[in-house]
Amino acid sequence: MIFANRYFPATRMRRMRKDEFSRRLMRENVLTANDLIYPVFVMEGQNRVVEVPSMPGAPRQTLDKLLYTAEQALELGIPMLSLFPVIESGKDNDAQEAYNPEGLVPTVVRELKKRFPELGVMTDGALDPYTIHGQDGVIDDSGYVLNDETTEILIKQGLCHAEAGVDMFGPSDMMDGRIGAIRQAFEEEGYIHTKILAYSAKYSSGFYGPFRDALGSSGNLGKADKNNYQMDPANLDEAIQEVAQDLEEGADAVMIKPGMPYLDVIRRVKDTFRVPTFAYQVSGEYAMLKAAFQNGWLNEEKCMLESLIAFKRAGADGILTYFALDAARLLRQR
Ligand code: PBG
Repeated sequence: MIFANRYFPATRMRRMRKDEFSRRLMRENVLTANDLIYPVFVMEGQNRVVEVPSMPGAPRQTLDKLLYTAEQALELGIPMLSLFPVIESGKDNDAQEAYNPEGLVPTVVRELKKRFPELGVMTDGALDPYTIHGQDGVIDDSGYVLNDETTEILIKQGLCHAEAGVDMFGPSDMMDGRIGAIRQAFEEEGYIHTKILAYSAKYSSGFYGPFRDALGSSGNLGKADKNNYQMDPANLDEAIQEVAQDLEEGADAVMIKPGMPYLDVIRRVKDTFRVPTFAYQVSGEYAMLKAAFQNGWLNEEKCMLESLIAFKRAGADGILTYFALDAARLLRQR
């Protein structure tokens, strides 16, 4: 009696999950080294690698050391490095060091492109490494970041990096109109191949803390925040408007930042615009995971790769991640 009424599931979802071969066949997303961008902190001097306590394994390094790191990245198939400078002397109120052709970033770009022409090099467009107050732009007496004055300096910074041979310039400053202004300057000066990755949806996030430690800008910033230019974490429609504007102004690709807490934004942007969409797994996300790995609370290999495939599932084409080297090594072993 009981057998006659027995219920069999119409579909056994577990059938396809049972074997490794069928799991492989039905896998919807793949992560490869091609998806990774490796952010690195570079500092003046020679033969120095300085760990950042809140970012274990993502140290500041001098150019000679960075060349070795770059070689590893290239060898592992990582398409691009993203440079972030630690400026120890030469900060001022109006970020003049940001467009010094002999400065740290242009020097490193020239050397990397000379040694490893096929490795993509990206730089960050923002003034925070260069200002004594740690804001991404120049400020008025009240501390407000001035939009158009900052954009003028960002143009100089972009041209300085383009001249040094950077492949991709990534304005991360959130000034209005800067993508169009920089694009126009690039065109006028003949840098028609220099790509612009617009940090379009950049939120005013607490997850940037360890990055600011690495740059040494957290002390300068003090109690100030970046709320008058970076986006409110509560907003999604606003991200769509930002991306639309940056594309209109000539961005080649767009960025969403931070990453893991903002996967919904990545998905919305990808579905809406169908353009190259990148995401930044930022310093705080890295710090959080690393701390748990170091305590033995999470499995490092599993959680690292799971965090990265989640970006692919959300629609990201590329991921900036401090795990890039480690992840590429793990992927190679598979
Ligand atoms: C600078 C910049 C920041 C990050 C990248 N570029 C910090 C900030 O806006 O304060 C953060 C990256 C990270 O946390 O890993 N404009």
